[in-house]
Amino acid sequence: MTIEELLSSKGRPAKLVMLTAYDYPLAKLLDEAGVDVILVGDSVAMVVLGRDDTTAVGMEEMLHHAKAVRRGTTRALLIGDMPFGSFHSGAAEAARNARRFVEEAGCDAVKIEWISGVVESVRAITAAGVPVMGHVGLTPQTAAREGGYGMRGKRAEAAADIIGQADALQGAGCFALVVECVPAEVAGLMTERLSIPVFGIGSGPDCDGQVVVTHDLLGLYDRFTPRFVRRYADLGRAVRQAAEAYAADVRRAGFPGADETVHLAPEEHERLLAILAPAGRRS
Ligand code: KIV
Repeated sequence: MTIEELLSSKGRPAKLVMLTAYDYPLAKLLDEAGVDVILVGDSVAMVVLGRDDTTAVGMEEMLHHAKAVRRGTTRALLIGDMPFGSFHSGAAEAARNARRFVEEAGCDAVKIEWISGVVESVRAITAAGVPVMGHVGLTPQTAAREGGYGMRGKRAEAAADIIGQADALQGAGCFALVVECVPAEVAGLMTERLSIPVFGIGSGPDCDGQVVVTHDLLGLYDRFTPRFVRRYADLGRAVRQAAEAYAADVRRAGFPGADETVHLAPEEHERLLAILAPAGRRS
């Protein structure tokens, strides 16, 4: 999937599919499943690193995970999420950090959350040759100081502000947007207005594509599950059951069994015993 292909799919009946990944095996499985876009989300802070929110991850950790995801991704477009603090000290720093995602981790693009002044950063990043996906609506990096994790844009003025932010991001050169937790009508109007693809999360069906956190979809993260998540598998339960079965086998000396064990050839066994025998008893 290239950015050109993504842009030309705008308005087509088949919706675009984006999921998050943070390591090689998951990225490889999603890529093989035909997912269009893989996002190395800063949600890694919560669903993989067990931190309380997405601000608790920095550039080095994001690059570490992005490199692993790159190794498992051959088909999908790969996007690195600009973490909290990586674009808050001006456009030049934003561009420098965005380039690290491409040059060091092999990402195809970066994603950046809306904050005041971010438009300048988007311009600088695109001028540095790195394609940018914007993120509006609920922006988790600033959610705590903006009243929590609830829906955004429920009143017309607030919805118009969010749509204005989306317009500004497209104007600054973003090739796509994520809109998180806004009413379906707001996401629908945004999708209709913009010429770039809009991926919804908790924002209803009228977007060009959808994105969710993969660990939510797979049942691998149970500290908090947003209302809009549909669980497609319960891997948490499967992993727990597998670990319990392994533990039971080990405890009753049922693992490893004959098929899982390699033996020394009898003559090598004899020789080893002779080597290990006390010197006086060898002759
Ligand atoms: O970090 C993340 O996983 C995200 C998605 C929820 C869009 O930003």
